[in-house]
Amino acid sequence: MIELLDSPAEARAWCALRRERGERIGFVPTMGALHVGHLSLVERAVAENDAVCVSVFVNPLQFDDPRDLERYPRDLEGDARLLEGAGAAMVFTGTLAQFFPGELAADGSLAPERLVDPGPAAAGLEGAFRTGHFEGVATIVARLFDLVEPARVYFGRKDYQQALVVDDLARRRGGPRVVVCDIVREPTGLACSSRNALLSEAGRARAACLSRSLEAVDAAWREGARDAEELAALLREGLARDGVELDYAELRDPLAWSAEAPTGLLERAVALVAARVDGVRLIDNLELGAGGVARA
Ligand code: PAF
Repeated sequence: MIELLDSPAEARAWCALRRERGERIGFVPTMGALHVGHLSLVERAVAENDAVCVSVFVNPLQFDDPRDLERYPRDLEGDARLLEGAGAAMVFTGTLAQFFPGELAADGSLAPERLVDPGPAAAGLEGAFRTGHFEGVATIVARLFDLVEPARVYFGRKDYQQALVVDDLARRRGGPRVVVCDIVREPTGLACSSRNALLSEAGRARAACLSRSLEAVDAAWREGARDAEELAALLREGLARDGVELDYAELRDPLAWSAEAPTGLLERAVALVAARVDGVRLIDNLELGAGGVARA
């Protein structure tokens, strides 16, 4: 039976006991509304560690839009059932005040000097479009690492830039080991996301254009296209045809993150998109020439 703990302090004690027994803890941080993508992280963590715990916390520090925070899907009981099926031993949640006891100002906010620097991978794309987003992610992730002290922590590649930020954070702190897992997709190619639950049926069908546009660029790459501007134009063309509201559709060098898009002929590239469908913000990405869009 999975243990459901509703305070970070209890979670800290649970994890300390496991570590004292010599168990290696695998940890999956989430914001809940779990889907098969999250469960694939948990299953991998179960296979690679002695005990697995999961956090479910819709972190207000990483939302720049209060409406987005308010309508983010929540279903803690459903999440606990799914996690039990996937083999997690413990799931915990908490409030911002519980995660940062004695550290919040009177208005409930966290003082800017308490925010954790997300490092250079936060520059550009999500970092540029969502003010303060990666500071919020780095701050809660650092706090979660302190509480759980996991041996390994699991993140999905759908949040490509987040995985870079968290990996860099973990390296600066001397651990834990960050395991980045493949994107899980629906049969249409749409990347699994908690936000998909907010889409209408028609919106869900339209949202598959994100992965289709990534596939088109990947096909061009396989046929030998290497010019950065041409590839980026091809990526945007597909999305413009489908009429989604685009935040960005750009390429980056996966081994040398930069706020700016690369120019000229590329040796390697990841294509990244962020767009709104039905007013719901979705992101997706694909490393070009590395296996394509794998559907369920
Ligand atoms: O990817 C997420 O769900 C969140 O950004 C994370 C890592 C749980 C931090 O709140």
